[in-house]
Amino acid sequence: MTLLLGLETSCDETAAAVVRDGHEVLAERVASQAELHARFGGVIPEVASRSHLEVIFPVVEDCLEQAGVSLEELDGLAVTHRPGLIGCLLVGLSAAKGFALARGLPLVPVNHVHAHVYGALMGGEGGSAPTHPEQAPWPLASLVVSGGHTTLYESRGPEVHRPLGRTLDDAAGEAYDKVSALLGLGYPGGPIVDRLAAEGDPNAYELPRPLPPDSLDFSFSGLKTAVLYAVRGPQGRDPLPADLVAADVAASFQAAVVDVLARRLVQAAERIDAGGLLVCGGVAANRALRARLAEEAERTGLPLFMPPMRLATDNAVMVAGLGYHVLRAGRTAGLELDAVPRGD
Ligand code: KG4
Ligand code: ZN
Repeated sequence: MTLLLGLETSCDETAAAVVRDGHEVLAERVASQAELHARFGGVIPEVASRSHLEVIFPVVEDCLEQAGVSLEELDGLAVTHRPGLIGCLLVGLSAAKGFALARGLPLVPVNHVHAHVYGALMGGEGGSAPTHPEQAPWPLASLVVSGGHTTLYESRGPEVHRPLGRTLDDAAGEAYDKVSALLGLGYPGGPIVDRLAAEGDPNAYELPRPLPPDSLDFSFSGLKTAVLYAVRGPQGRDPLPADLVAADVAASFQAAVVDVLARRLVQAAERIDAGGLLVCGGVAANRALRARLAEEAERTGLPLFMPPMRLATDNAVMVAGLGYHVLRAGRTAGLELDAVPRGD
């Protein structure tokens, strides 16, 4: 039996979780900074790292207490050390190093993007994983779609992910956040636009569905600009029309994003002769995307792996889950472990 504490601070969520053997969740805690950043319309890195520092110890204490586990009983500390905002990563990493040093525990470095993929295999209420993470039908066509990433991978194991295509400009979540800002709605934009889109007409605006040719890449900046011109005129500078039906804009934009993501994922699956489809990252909480991918799974006969809603956005369950495999493979780290802002 292997018990890991996971720590996640790569962006604007401070999270801790205790997970046994890579799949059994004993406790989980997430402190979101969304409200803190809402008034700026985006994550301010300095504000984010300071906030992580304020809450990380209470979050860890709470989590251990909920799990009924003491630091002495742990087998290691799994921590997101890449990629992410450098100041934010350093808070989680320093805390993990402190615990590891104090208790003589191994430090287990976890890649945030790979952890998102793993989280989709962990199942749980509302998730779709029908199998144990270790028995997934590899290779999987995996779509990581969040505020920082829109990347397709050929996944051959919990830690083996070969990039097949990626966004050439904005991430899909970023496009959601920008469209929300354009419409004068709040931050983070994804959940707001998602909710609004359910009430609108997806055919109200004719928007492009950019699919860069001869590749599995994505591009969302043209779509974002098309939305801008559609609502604020050919220069993109007119005031928002008084009679603008924001729900129609949201629905049309969402239909284009979902269509592009779903088509690319299915193309990727065909290319690698995948045994299953997987979607993860914050945008995997999108209801329209989940519904469309469920249809594609049915049509192609491939199983679909999606995280439960609560594990779509950043969390430490996925970090402690993947950490189990990193630890088992002997890839622990020393106190010299660095935070790395980029990479996938
Ligand atoms: O994975 P995540 O929590 O953080 C990153 O690693 O980026 O993803 C956050 C992103 C934000 O851009 C947010 O707007 C988007 O995920 N998001 C959504 C939904 N919920 C969150 N996008 C579309 N629909 C949603 N329901
Ligand atoms: Zn993330």
